[in-house]
Amino acid sequence: MPPALHTDRLLLRKPVIEDLTPFTAMFSDPEVSRYIGDGTPRPPERVERGFRNGLLCWDRLGFGPFTVLHNDLVIGDCLLYPIACSGTDPTDFAARGPEIELAYRLAREAWGQGFATEAARAALHWAMSDTGPALSRLIAVTHPDNAASQRVLVKLGMRSLGETNAYYDTPTTLFETTRD
Ligand SMILES: CC(C)(COP(=O)(O)OP(=O)(O)OC[C@H]1O[C@@H](n2cnc3c(N)ncnc32)[C@H](O)[C@@H]1OP(=O)(O)O)[C@@H](O)C(=O)NCCC(=O)NCCS
Repeated sequence: MPPALHTDRLLLRKPVIEDLTPFTAMFSDPEVSRYIGDGTPRPPERVERGFRNGLLCWDRLGFGPFTVLHNDLVIGDCLLYPIACSGTDPTDFAARGPEIELAYRLAREAWGQGFATEAARAALHWAMSDTGPALSRLIAVTHPDNAASQRVLVKLGMRSLGETNAYYDTPTTLFETTRD
């Protein structure tokens, strides 16, 4: 049974189909999509494909994307997810991995309140704990200009490993953390 993670202000739980509506709205915002994928708003069919892949991830790996709620409202997601290496199709779940990435996307109204850090910290701790999947290493990548996202990773204590072209067929700034 997938866990629900509680923090001071947030609930992280496995996605349910009703989450698709707020996710579709979130990804239609150019500011949210600016540093994700090709940098353009994500169309509903692409959001739905990612959503279904997320459920597949939970079924196959026992972890995956968490929906993040504040005061019972969906404000975004926080993912533990196999990363897509360059040269592979990121929409094909079977082609992703084996490394696991930490990622997060919040609706614009939720920015600037420490929510991404709070959600990601809970997901990271669970990911590496014996009560969770006990991963030995987690990575994260950001667009090189995505200063807010990089700041979140620094606040989580993740190490910057510099720029790489190894993922998503684009230059990214790579971060890692290990269980030890
Ligand atoms: C990135 C994102 C998740 C951050 O969410 P958030 O809840 O606002 O993040 P937090 O409040 O936990 O922390 C953000 C930090 O970045 C800082 N920050 C915000 N904008 C910044 C900027 N333009 N330059 C530098 N630092 C910035 C904040 O001050 C804060 O640091 P502080 O606590 O030391 O003051 C959110 O902006 C988002 O969803 N963006 C769109 C999706 C996305 O890009 N996701 C990441 C993909 S890699």
